[in-house]
This record gives sequence, C-alpha cells and structure tokens, in this order.
Amino acid sequence: MHKYSKNLNKVIYRASIVNPINSSRCSFYKDGGLLIDNGVIEEVNCFDNVLKNASPDVPVIELNGVISPGFVDVHLHWVQYKVKGLYSGELLTWLRESIWPEESHYVDVELATSAARNFYDDLLRAGTVMGLSYSSPHAHATQIAIDLMRGDWVVGNVLMGINAPNYLTDFSLHDSDTLKAFMSNIDLRHYAVTPRFAPNLSQFQLKALGEIAIDSGVIIQTHLAESREEVEWVRKLFPEADNYTDVYDRAGLLGRKTVLGHCIEMSDSEWRCLAERGCWVAHCPTSNEALGNRRMPLEKLREYNIPYALATDIGAGPSHSMLHVLQRFLSLHRDAGVNIDHEDALYRATLAGAEAMGRGLIAGNLCAGKRADFILLPGMGPRDHWAGWLEDCISGSMSELETRPLGTWLGGKKVS
Ligand code: GUN
Ligand code: ZN
Repeated sequence: MHKYSKNLNKVIYRASIVNPINSSRCSFYKDGGLLIDNGVIEEVNCFDNVLKNASPDVPVIELNGVISPGFVDVHLHWVQYKVKGLYSGELLTWLRESIWPEESHYVDVELATSAARNFYDDLLRAGTVMGLSYSSPHAHATQIAIDLMRGDWVVGNVLMGINAPNYLTDFSLHDSDTLKAFMSNIDLRHYAVTPRFAPNLSQFQLKALGEIAIDSGVIIQTHLAESREEVEWVRKLFPEADNYTDVYDRAGLLGRKTVLGHCIEMSDSEWRCLAERGCWVAHCPTSNEALGNRRMPLEKLREYNIPYALATDIGAGPSHSMLHVLQRFLSLHRDAGVNIDHEDALYRATLAGAEAMGRGLIAGNLCAGKRADFILLPGMGPRDHWAGWLEDCISGSMSELETRPLGTWLGGKKVS
C-alpha cells in the first residue's frame, strides 16, 4: 500500500471561516482551514495550524469567500413551494382558499416527483442543507420527498381527519393502524409524526398520535397558536382544555422531540408548559409578517428559556432563503426594541436547527467528527469583523438572497 494512501480522501479548504458554537459564541478565522476526511470534518482552525498538522500530500483547495455551516430550516411545507409568497391573508381563509387546494395536486405522483427535485435543487442553491418538512396528506408524496432527499431531512405527511375538505382528509393516515403500517415501511430517522394543527384532529385522534410518536421515538411537529382566529377556533373545538397548548399536552404530544411552529398567541402558563416539557419552537418571522400575524414574542422565549430555531415556513413564508429569514428576524425584533446578537442569529439558523432535529452531535456546525455540510458565502472585503460581514450578507432583495451562496457542500462534496 502507498504510504500516503490513507490520505486519499482528505482535503483542506482554505477560506475565511465563521463557525457558530452556541447562542453567544461564534469562532471566526480570517484565514481558516477546514480539513475533511471522507466527508467528515477532521479539523477547523487557522489555515497555518491545519496545514502543519496534516500530511504534506493532502491537497489544499483555496476558496474565495467565507465558509459557514449550511443552513437548517426547521419548519417548511415542501408541497407549498410552488406557491410560496403567492397568497396571503388571514391564516384560516388562506388555508381553505389557497393552500389546501394546492396541496390536493400532490395526489399526482409525477407532479410530486418533479416538484421534489426542483425543491431540493433550489434549497441547496440557497444554502439549506437540512430541515424539518411538512408534506401533503398523501403517503406517496412523503415517500417521494424522503426518496429524493438531498441533504438531511425529516418529513411528515400532514395528518388531518376533520374540519377540512374530503379531498385531503380522504388521504390522511391519522387512523392508528394505517399510520403504524405506513411507518413500518419508512426510514424513521427521516420521519416526523405531523398532526397538521389541533383543529384538524379530535382529542381522541391526537392522543393516539401522541402514543405512536412516543412508542416509535420519532420527532413530532405541528403548529401552535399562530393567529388569534385559530386560537379562538381551538377554544371552541376543545372547551375542556385550559388553552391551545393544553390540547397537545393532554394528548401527550409535548416533549423534547416536539417542534412547534409559530407560538405567537400564548399565555404565560402555556410558555411555562413548553419550558417544562422541553419543547422546541420553530420561529418563522417571514411567514408571520406575510400572513399579517403578530410578532412572535422572542422576549418570552428568553424569559422561559425555551429553545428555538429559525424557519421559512414556505409557502406562507415568501422565500426559501434562510438569509432572508435572518434579515427579517433581526429587523422585526430590533424594531420592537428586542436586541439580537449576531452570534445568536447565526446559531438559530444553523446549529440550533440541527439540535431541534436531534442531530446536534453530527451536524449543524463545523466541528471535528461532524458531517462536512457547509456553504461558501461572499468574502468580507475590507471588513475586519464578521458581524459587519453578516449584515452585508443578509442585505438585499429576496431573490438576491436566494442566490447569494457561492456553493454548497454535502458530506464534503460540492452539490450546488
Ligand atoms: N396551520 C395549519 N396548516 C398550516 C400551514 O400549512 N401553514 C401555516 N403557516 N400554518 C398552518
Ligand atoms: Zn407551517
């Protein structure tokens, strides 16, 4: 065997590197080195140190820009990708008049297949490498989204039994035996039990789903308290529950593997409940803005120490770009007098999302032993601090932000 053959799969990328560590810390190397072995990160450091530690035969690839971990989007509806930003208005009317008819098209296998290809292409182009995704109720659409997946996704067919048109409920797998049979044929690492939201299921149905999710250990994702009309509807539908959160809590749906979209119209006792159960919140600022919902009270998440990560919520969110989400996230809260540090913002768009997905030890940032999923963003120019560079990176129009990344790598391979 050639004496250096063990290094055949190694490569060093040389560029500036920004690497979120937690909500208050981010490493930055102006002249950084990222050593990758067989798709896995071996070392991140300043370039000179990485070079010194590596064998002399390891190739060096110089990249012109800033390497960052790829983005993680913890709440989107891939079956709404074609109509993202096309419709807006009050949540319930928007669902009934625009979104549910759109999702009905995913009964068509060919349409779903080409839509999934297009969706993953565009997400990688925008720098998103993993996330949590809602599908339509159709079993095959979820299967297609998992089979054609590029990156690391967890997908769930929305479960909806009542208070929705038959053209969707007829395909829903919420019946326990049907769902168990479906789950027995699917890779559960990529599956989430996905009650669409409380109004689409009875208390009995929700409880059955809670049991299946706990038994199988999969992620649970659903919507919670996104709009005032929705909360009012839930109050009428579930008079026995103390509040919206309590509907899910009684069903056993709240735990550390639960990711709740939105959480805007919440009372203090509901925040306390989420904190006690260890739930994650998927915060979707661009969606909330587009549908005219209120600002998610970030200060409450902080007060109750509730973990959260950022998301686009396509198709209510008008763009699949997490740079766009970052732009609006910083701006909306800052305008309300709530400050967000740059370290926190970058963490919420990357590592926090991987943690919400239970993948914090294998993905989400650039640490030894993790999957080499990263992106290249434009260089810093004369800037000498990465915070100013981040502000530059997130400024511009939606379409500029969607194509701002200069490249995306999955497991060390360039894919976009
Ligand atoms: N609540 C229930 N379904 C949906 C959906 O598809 N999008 C959003 N934003 N909220 C929902
Ligand atoms: Zn949603």
